[in-house]
Amino acid sequence: MNVILRLIKKGDLPLIQQYLSKDGVSRMTNIPEPYPTNGASDWFEIVMEEFHEGNHYPFAIIADDQFAGSISVRREQDRIGAIDYWVAPPFWKKGIGTKAAEQAVDFGRNELGFKSFETCCLIENKGSARILEKIGFQKGKEFLIGSGEKHGGKMARLYYLY
Ligand SMILES: CC(C)(COP(=O)(O)OP(=O)(O)OC[C@H]1O[C@@H](n2cnc3c(N)ncnc32)[C@H](O)[C@@H]1OP(=O)(O)O)[C@@H](O)C(=O)NCCC(=O)NCCS
Repeated sequence: MNVILRLIKKGDLPLIQQYLSKDGVSRMTNIPEPYPTNGASDWFEIVMEEFHEGNHYPFAIIADDQFAGSISVRREQDRIGAIDYWVAPPFWKKGIGTKAAEQAVDFGRNELGFKSFETCCLIENKGSARILEKIGFQKGKEFLIGSGEKHGGKMARLYYLY
């Protein structure tokens, strides 16, 4: 499948709202569950503010001309980036997440000057861990998520890309 990234636009919000309101996509992410009624438009407002500050680049993942999910490139520190992503269930296991993550990292390096990336995912999130390993992230420490968080009590792992 041909995969490209382009900045999120308002026209993507109905599909984002629809995909994130269903069970499944958000389960292993920090996306709120149940997804609020205005979740997508509230998220868009926040990320656009961060975008204008140069700290958050929210992309739509476009696979063969269809909206297939979203990936964000965020500034964690001056030269350190982070990526967060989700792919909509009809598009799972077609290599889309891997291609999107690869392109997001390239964007962070080439356009934003990031020297390294950090991210983390739940140990149980085999698909996400595999994407990170496939694009060259190295495993960092495992840690226990604090009880106040969505996944409190579960184990997660840090990943680094230099
Ligand atoms: C995790 C996620 C992004 C994977 O996206 P995807 O487009 O299906 O990933 P790919 O097709 O590029 O697959 C990458 C690798 O992971 C494997 N994989 C994908 N989903 C998997 C799963 N549920 N269990 C085990 N392995 C999985 C693929 O087989 C592939 O490995 P391979 O090349 O060795 O065969 C997608 O399932 C998703 O959006 N999940 C919900 C949101 C989420 O978890 N986001 C990440 C938070 S850290």
